[in-house]
Amino acid sequence: KTIQQLKEKMEQGLLPQWVITDPDIYQLEVEKIFGKTWQFLAHETELKEPGSYVTRWIVNDPILLVKNKEGKIKAFLNSCSHRGVQLCTADRGNKKTFTCPYHGWSYNLEGDLIGIVAGNKVYGEEMCKTEWRLREIPQVASYQGMIFGNLDPNAEPLDDYLGEMKWYFDLMLGRGDGGMEVRGVPQRWVAKANWKSTAENFAADPYHVQTTHRSTVEMGISPEDPLYAGYGHQVVMKNGHGINVITSATGKARVPFQGMPEEMWPMFEKNLTPEQLDIQSRVTVFVGGAYPNLSFVSPIHGTEGHLHNYLNFRLWRPIGPDHVEVWCWFMIDKAAPEEYKEAAYRGYLGSFGPSGTLEQDDTETWARIVESSKGLMARDKELSYNSVSNYLMGLTNVEPDESFPGPGTAYPTCYTDALSRRLHENWLELISKDLYVKEEV
Ligand code: FES
Ligand code: FE
Repeated sequence: KTIQQLKEKMEQGLLPQWVITDPDIYQLEVEKIFGKTWQFLAHETELKEPGSYVTRWIVNDPILLVKNKEGKIKAFLNSCSHRGVQLCTADRGNKKTFTCPYHGWSYNLEGDLIGIVAGNKVYGEEMCKTEWRLREIPQVASYQGMIFGNLDPNAEPLDDYLGEMKWYFDLMLGRGDGGMEVRGVPQRWVAKANWKSTAENFAADPYHVQTTHRSTVEMGISPEDPLYAGYGHQVVMKNGHGINVITSATGKARVPFQGMPEEMWPMFEKNLTPEQLDIQSRVTVFVGGAYPNLSFVSPIHGTEGHLHNYLNFRLWRPIGPDHVEVWCWFMIDKAAPEEYKEAAYRGYLGSFGPSGTLEQDDTETWARIVESSKGLMARDKELSYNSVSNYLMGLTNVEPDESFPGPGTAYPTCYTDALSRRLHENWLELISKDLYVKEEV
């Protein structure tokens, strides 16, 4: 009954508010969304040499990501097979072997158990080491340098899962020779927020920019025009992925190629298809997300004559229904000049990440959604208070634009809830899959 009721509401462009922080819904999300979809783990430039490793999480599963001697990426559950202690506690480094801090069992880069303290002497006979190797993450795959893992061995391949989004990944991550590189380390912090709100805010909500980030208008960095973040296209894709290609009122960019150095333009022309090039030449900001919890923004920051572009990927790791651990990567074209990279990195630190002004604007609103979704009126499952959030923008007044050159369903404005509605439809589809339905007799 609840699923049916949610479905009906969502078809009307309404999302019952109680689902945001409901603990039972959260448990369903952990198993049916995060246990089954492809989860971003790292960019390949974070693992440079054989033996390089980083530790990551897929919600509650600790992951050890290692580059082996052949240069292949392996992903293990970061948990010793003896008593389950977290094996590696450092964020990153380079090792030939991993030794458990509890009883000293050690593993090589392939996850093989290679050393048992006092081995035969304590176990009486040779332990079958292959039985006690580290548990591998069922699926690992990468696209354009982005490494993903999947806890479901039967999940569709990453290529199929990303689908149309690959075209936009090619554009953002593959435009320069050598692709992108991560600069610095991913920053991370905990925010009071539900992952659905943060993912939606980035993927599908340029409408908030004018108000939430009002200070940028007052400082003269952003235009006064209340429609300014809406010019361009919002593209809705299979599996709930999406992107906003924000241009300007004229349909052109503020500066060509997002202010990337002119000497790099021929490189973009060589690496992109004519359709991708058309978009790249007139975009101001790309902002979007790969479902469920990976978001990205590729903005232009700075002042006239000193404009910089970069790519910021962020993962919203849920740690409960009302908190996320944010993981935030700064990426820049490998081929860009060093001084450009450094200036763009400084611009990023001032805007996004824990020290960023835009980040703090957003974080405040997400916390307030969580705070106001816990009360009796908001948690009313019978909806007698009509406790729903409004997703009506563009529902009846915006049609797709067939002339848009990229794949997906493109709407001729970014001020529409088309992608938000798709995200939540996808959410409901996933959490209600294979649910046991008790028939009333
Ligand atoms: Fe790792 Fe005992 S738990 S060696
Ligand atoms: Fe924002």
